[in-house]
Amino acid sequence: MKASDVRQLIQVRMPEPSRRKRVLRSAFSVAEYRTAARHVLPRGIFDYLDGGSEDEVTLRRNRASFDAWGLMPSWGAVTGPDTTTGILGRQSALPIMLTPTGATRLFHPEGELAVARAAASADIPYGLAGLSTVSLEDVAAQSPTLDRWFNFGLSSDAGYQAAKLERCRAAGIRTLIVSADTRALGSRERDLRNGFTAPPALTLSSLVGIAARPGWWTSFLRADGIRFPNLDPSDSDAALVTPSMWQQILGHSDASRGWGDLDALRAQWSGKIVLKGCVNPADVARAASIGLDAVQLSNHGGRQLDHMLSPMDVLQECRQRVQGEMELYLDSGIRRGSDILTALALGADACSIGRPYLYGLVAAGSAGVTRVIEIFAAELQRTMTLVGVSSIAELKDRGAELVRELPRLPQELPSTVRE
Ligand SMILES: Cc1cc2nc3c(=O)[nH]c(=O)nc-3n(C[C@H](O)[C@H](O)[C@H](O)COP(=O)(O)O)c2cc1C
Repeated sequence: MKASDVRQLIQVRMPEPSRRKRVLRSAFSVAEYRTAARHVLPRGIFDYLDGGSEDEVTLRRNRASFDAWGLMPSWGAVTGPDTTTGILGRQSALPIMLTPTGATRLFHPEGELAVARAAASADIPYGLAGLSTVSLEDVAAQSPTLDRWFNFGLSSDAGYQAAKLERCRAAGIRTLIVSADTRALGSRERDLRNGFTAPPALTLSSLVGIAARPGWWTSFLRADGIRFPNLDPSDSDAALVTPSMWQQILGHSDASRGWGDLDALRAQWSGKIVLKGCVNPADVARAASIGLDAVQLSNHGGRQLDHMLSPMDVLQECRQRVQGEMELYLDSGIRRGSDILTALALGADACSIGRPYLYGLVAAGSAGVTRVIEIFAAELQRTMTLVGVSSIAELKDRGAELVRELPRLPQELPSTVRE
């Protein structure tokens, strides 16, 4: 071999001084974005993002519930594959949504605006949290073409609720998401142990944390204070949310709200309504019977009721109960394109992701969210090709023929938890 041939084989990469660019260049999976996020965030903030409630049994089970399925490819020609699909009557480039996550500016100074830009350019829906740190109006002004959803809190105050609905209409919200799993705040013991407060307080241990994560602290202290502009003005105007207020905000759902309130909301809102946070097939059937448009099967990513079933445990039964009457989405534990394929094969119409896009946001801002969506898209396309389906319609049509349930090994830790 000639020296010039050898030189061609050797590719020298210049060291990249920007951490953000290094991550974008070298992280190839959601798990790697998680690792990058852990290196950016102070411990308490990372644990708030990543953790689950109590013993985190549900958090782990969410992964195990996907690992319990095997894919069964079939031989034959594949074209595309085409990942576009309809979500509540609107075309989406992928069967993926970005699910509401509160307090996003804790993770990155641009918060929900950065996420909205990435969702708009990927042409997928994004649900803003009731506790979002950017207003509905600012997201609408920045991303007018984005399919914007909003996590709507049912209120016992009829006047307040009517005004809030009017605000949603004016801000072009197409779909309301009502959370069914926040009647009380889950006990997230990592947060208790870390003395987690939001906004983070400058205690002795956080001063030690500054030394460990100076980049995050610098951008956090330079940015505007955290506010919740989509709450009642009396809450959202406070420049600094105290820890006790934070607890109230996190547990803000009114436990006395029930089916009658959803009935009333249906009558008040002509747009779409999604009930999020159910795993009970009877709830899904009831939601269909009162004319809701979809149910998002979810256990809040294992952050609320520990030992709650995983959506994958009940997906087929829920689909059987409502047949084609309503759309079903699924979240909690999705980390790979193959998870999305499995969920769609078993009856979901689309999947929603939470922590993965936050890992991308922390690691590299809006470009990181875009990259995480691209990773899911590439993995889904590759998995579809290898399994042997050319479109989402074909995948849903052939369904359970493409997967097999495997015996679960309880001693085996799910892959994303093992490190
Ligand atoms: C930091 C964080 C904040 C969240 N905030 C909300 C919220 O305000 N309302 C809600 O219904 N779900 C909330 N969720 C739950 C997500 O919408 C979603 O159900 C969950 O993250 C999906 O699981 P995954 O993170 O494993 O993808 C939050 C999740 C995280 C990680």
